[in-house]
Amino acid sequence: MPVQLADIRLDPPVFLAPMAGITDLPFRRLVAGFGAGLVVSEMVASGEMVTARPSARARAESDLGLIEGCCAVQLAGREARPMAEAARLVADMGARIIDINMGCPARKVTGGLSGSALMRDPDHALRLIEAVVGATDLPVTLKCRLGWDEDCLNAADLARRAEAAGIAMITVHGRTRQQFYAGRADWAAIAAVRDAVTIPVIANGDITDVASARAALAASGADGVMVGRGARGAPWASSVNIRAAPGKPPARTPPARRTFWMAQERLASTGVVVVSMSWP
Ligand SMILES: Cc1cc2nc3c(=O)[nH]c(=O)nc-3n(C[C@H](O)[C@H](O)[C@H](O)COP(=O)(O)O)c2cc1C
Repeated sequence: MPVQLADIRLDPPVFLAPMAGITDLPFRRLVAGFGAGLVVSEMVASGEMVTARPSARARAESDLGLIEGCCAVQLAGREARPMAEAARLVADMGARIIDINMGCPARKVTGGLSGSALMRDPDHALRLIEAVVGATDLPVTLKCRLGWDEDCLNAADLARRAEAAGIAMITVHGRTRQQFYAGRADWAAIAAVRDAVTIPVIANGDITDVASARAALAASGADGVMVGRGARGAPWASSVNIRAAPGKPPARTPPARRTFWMAQERLASTGVVVVSMSWP
């Protein structure tokens, strides 16, 4: 089932994750062209956006050109006022959805008390959410982890409060911040978030193909999946791209002279087609 955010239909419910240094605009256009229901920008530091740093502005570009699709711009930050101001700026630049980063584990981000560090201070996180939601008419979404560590698994609580504050969709990476990328993503733990809210919940972490997408949806009860590293390097290395075409062949195919299609499978439950590619 597609995910609906206000008047925006995200179809299929298979999204490209924000990845700093990877999901720049050309990459997002490429993945949107293969049919991802949503592509998300690299995180944009709200402070850099407000001080008009050109690199931040470039990261916040979201025009997919002739490619059909929807692009969200992700904001990262610690203070409510610059987050709100940055939200207004990216909305003026044409963003259709604004995502708030509460999942980044990197020390240089959490050291500045943003990204996943906000999960340790939910009251402050809520002030930030309220500021962004109040600054724009666009749907505002949230991306977080299961919690900071095993002793602070508060994604469901945060999600409940975030929904009450106007957040339209939540993506949960099934790891804690202290895990960084170690071990396996715990998709079953995302079910607690699914149970806590009525807005769409998206499962993220270690989803790379039809089998893992299906397993993540079954374990979490989530409304869709978000793919990060599985899409990294595409198309010149190897990757997975996901598009909707229930019962139909893909409408847009990779360039004929680049015969990098290796396999195509249908994810029957969501009407999603997964296309695995590798450079010949
Ligand atoms: C190189 C890299 C950069 C990332 N940058 C961001 C980011 O800017 N914002 C964010 O919310 N998550 C970021 N992430 C986390 C991913 O969005 C995703 O949550 C994580 O990689 C787990 O999903 P996966 O197993 O499908 O890769 C990044 C991950 C990687 C590997």
